[in-house]
Amino acid sequence: MADQGRNSASAEAADSPYPAELTTEWPLVYGRSITVRPIRADDADIERRFLDGLSPRTRYHRFLGGGISVTPEWLARLTNIDYRTHMAFIATTLTGGGEDMIAVARYIRLAEDETSAEYAVTVADAWQGHGVGRRLMTMLIAHARGAGVRRLVGEILGSNAGMLHMMHSLGFEVHHHPDARELRLATLELRAGDPPASNDSAFAG
Ligand SMILES: CC(C)(COP(=O)(O)OP(=O)(O)OC[C@H]1O[C@@H](n2cnc3c(N)ncnc32)[C@H](O)[C@@H]1OP(=O)(O)O)[C@@H](O)C(=O)NCCC(=O)NCCS
Repeated sequence: MADQGRNSASAEAADSPYPAELTTEWPLVYGRSITVRPIRADDADIERRFLDGLSPRTRYHRFLGGGISVTPEWLARLTNIDYRTHMAFIATTLTGGGEDMIAVARYIRLAEDETSAEYAVTVADAWQGHGVGRRLMTMLIAHARGAGVRRLVGEILGSNAGMLHMMHSLGFEVHHHPDARELRLATLELRAGDPPASNDSAFAG
């Protein structure tokens, strides 16, 4: 899983400038919008609320059937990133209570081969099925390609029909995992000049 690998809460992360220019707005109806931006070190609280709010089924799919314990150290690794070996985009909305995280997509380069990266994506239950996951993954793929990542790879439960469908329709090749019967590996090879994996017009927000 992308967030279980290399420890990205490095000294390098603390020195990395925040890439604010990658922030975008996705308009919704009634003048509302979704903000999509790179995650920041001070997002630990909204990330924790986001994880706490996930249904058991979404957690099961996201964490490949395993449990997670949301410790401050783990939250720091998810949020205090260097934007180079570890990149994460979050989608947020504004509510009466402040900013709420509704989705996250991230990749982490493999320590042994920095041109390859593991990805993960999660959409809050209430927002699933509205195009957010597809659009966020499309953005992550485009960013990875521009940053020199040449291969994206992720582990997905074989029972996770929605994710398998989405990755397939984004152009990923899906194969059985060589070491775990219950898992699939979804891989996309990237080249610098390739067109986007898909257009993002599917967003139905
Ligand atoms: C999988 C997930 C990221 C998809 O995000 P989403 O915003 O719900 O998906 P979208 O609305 O963007 O739909 C993308 C595509 O998947 C399809 N899809 C979504 N959920 C589906 C489901 N349950 N069954 C079948 N297809 C599904 C959509 O029809 C759409 O197809 P298209 O691109 O051919 O039009 C999201 O449902 C999620 O967070 N699930 C739980 C966590 C998880 O499984 N993460 C992946 C761990 S590896």
